[in-house]
Amino acid sequence: MTQTPKKAIDIFDLQELARSKKNVISMGLGDPDLDTPAHIVAAAKAAIEEGRTGPAPTRGLPELREAISRKLARDNGIIADPETEVLVTTGGQEALFLLVQALTEPGDEVLVPDPRYTSYDAAINLAGGRIVLVPTDEEHDFDLDPDEVEKRITPKTKVLLLISPNNPTAGIVSPENTRRLAEIAIEHDLIVISDEIYEKFLYDGAQQISIASLPGMRERTITLNGVSKAYAMTGWRIGYLAGPPEFIDAVAALKEMVNMHAPTVSQWAAVAALDGPQDCVEEMRQTYAERRRLLMDALDEMGFTFGTPHGALYIWANTASTGIEATRLSYLFLDEADVLIFPGTGFGEKWGNYMRMTLLQPKEVLEQAISRMKDVLARHRGTAG
Ligand SMILES: Cc1ncc(COP(=O)(O)O)c(C=O)c1O
Repeated sequence: MTQTPKKAIDIFDLQELARSKKNVISMGLGDPDLDTPAHIVAAAKAAIEEGRTGPAPTRGLPELREAISRKLARDNGIIADPETEVLVTTGGQEALFLLVQALTEPGDEVLVPDPRYTSYDAAINLAGGRIVLVPTDEEHDFDLDPDEVEKRITPKTKVLLLISPNNPTAGIVSPENTRRLAEIAIEHDLIVISDEIYEKFLYDGAQQISIASLPGMRERTITLNGVSKAYAMTGWRIGYLAGPPEFIDAVAALKEMVNMHAPTVSQWAAVAALDGPQDCVEEMRQTYAERRRLLMDALDEMGFTFGTPHGALYIWANTASTGIEATRLSYLFLDEADVLIFPGTGFGEKWGNYMRMTLLQPKEVLEQAISRMKDVLARHRGTAG
């Protein structure tokens, strides 16, 4: 049995505690609070009413794989054959898990930027791979420095993981660094996993590029994406992978054993999401951008620092100036103010001075959470312990 790491226990424990209380404002989990757009819901209803509910191929409905292929060409400059180079999964979570199992042999080293979305840790550990952390920092807005990556490459390095925009840091890998990372991957014959699940949420003109679109990268990159974040569809469980046929074949073989195929009705909804009007995504982005501004200003007032959150649905806030260790602060916020925020140690051992705050509450609710946090800080600031 693999053991649950201590850091995850704090997050489970906080969630448990939050469930036992009334009126908790959650800035914890990263699930969009906005509604799935109506035309997507209508497409799911039509699929049910028309009886399009039977089993689908393991790789996904051909209509959805074609929609994904069109989307990748349109938005990301990635060419992926819907027959052989696309796989629909049961959420991004299944995609990342199966992909890591398919790619990683015991002893393989996987380069993982830190702090990190620790679901990848669990997947790598289970496959017998070795996690090699690559530090990122606030000073550089948590961009990934190609020199830091290159320094850690050994003959055993097999995979480089990129998550941009990032969970939890909200940083992005700049286009310049993405180009350099592509050169490094080619030179050292690395496979790249590019998790782009937050790609639609970029702020203040920030831009990123998909590494698979760069010369020489299509044959060594697996792009991971899904509809959970972009279309507020977490519960519908649709993710996807695009990459070279041999990788997709390997993941498809695992997927067939696990659950045959992603839910059919959700797949029809995802077709509507990807092929339908995209203004709903921009509206959601604007909503998150307003909340992000509100929270950034409040954090400034509270004396927290942070790297510019260029993307995603989070702010990764440094609590050092409060003099209160972040895990303790998380418990104080929950115990005394009914605000649930995950401490940084849930995203890597050395992040005890950080917290991940989500932008997934309406503005008025965020305002309330901010005022409650300010009260807690007024009582405890400087009381380390
Ligand atoms: C970086 C990253 N990848 C993948 C996922 C999984 O997404 P899904 O909800 O589609 O399973 C998440 C979810 O939070 C995530 O943050």
